[in-house]
Amino acid sequence: MPILQENSFEFISRSPEQTKRIGARLGSQLNKGDVICLFGELGAGKTTFVQGLVQGWGSSDMVTSPTFVLINQCRRPDGGEIHHLDAYRLRDEEEAEVLDLDGLIDQGILLVEWPERIEKALPDENLLIEMYWIADEQRRMVFLPHGQRGVSLAEKLRQEIYREPV
Ligand SMILES: Nc1ncnc2c1ncn2[C@@H]1O[C@H](COP(=O)(O)OP(=O)(O)OP(=O)(O)O)[C@@H](O)[C@H]1O
Ligand SMILES: [Mg+2]
Repeated sequence: MPILQENSFEFISRSPEQTKRIGARLGSQLNKGDVICLFGELGAGKTTFVQGLVQGWGSSDMVTSPTFVLINQCRRPDGGEIHHLDAYRLRDEEEAEVLDLDGLIDQGILLVEWPERIEKALPDENLLIEMYWIADEQRRMVFLPHGQRGVSLAEKLRQEIYREPV
């Protein structure tokens, strides 16, 4: 895992299952207020990652691509909530205003696919994950933390992957 810039790292996933397992490792760390941004082309694996993340966080809710509903909600028995936003169809931040993202972040965890569409509406503290297609079953994942919380999430995930490969 080469270091690209301080606190960032990358990982090559070799299957959708492996991407889900990494998602699950991250999901198990997440708390209310955390924001995870997922950047990558159509079919890069963003939703696949979210499926693992939601499971690892402790919810058995099904994750589908929210492209047509914009936001999907997942719940945990203890009342925790994840809001999963697909911003693909949003043109700009103004269109995101009605979604009240700050309110959603107060309530739970926010996951955003296509974050570049609404960059200005997102908080500075987040963990950005970029996914790039390499081959049919291979994806390059780059973890780029922003702010203190982003750094601590990324660092913990990196150490865990070193300690116990996914
Ligand atoms: N290593 C891998 N990691 C993730 N997905 C993979 C991998 N290898 C193959 N795939 C496949 O690539 C597809 C990824 O689709 P997914 O819906 O997760 O992409 P997405 O980035 O959310 O796309 P969209 O922008 O359309 O929402 C799935 O069919 C998945 O099985
Ligand atoms: Mg998707």
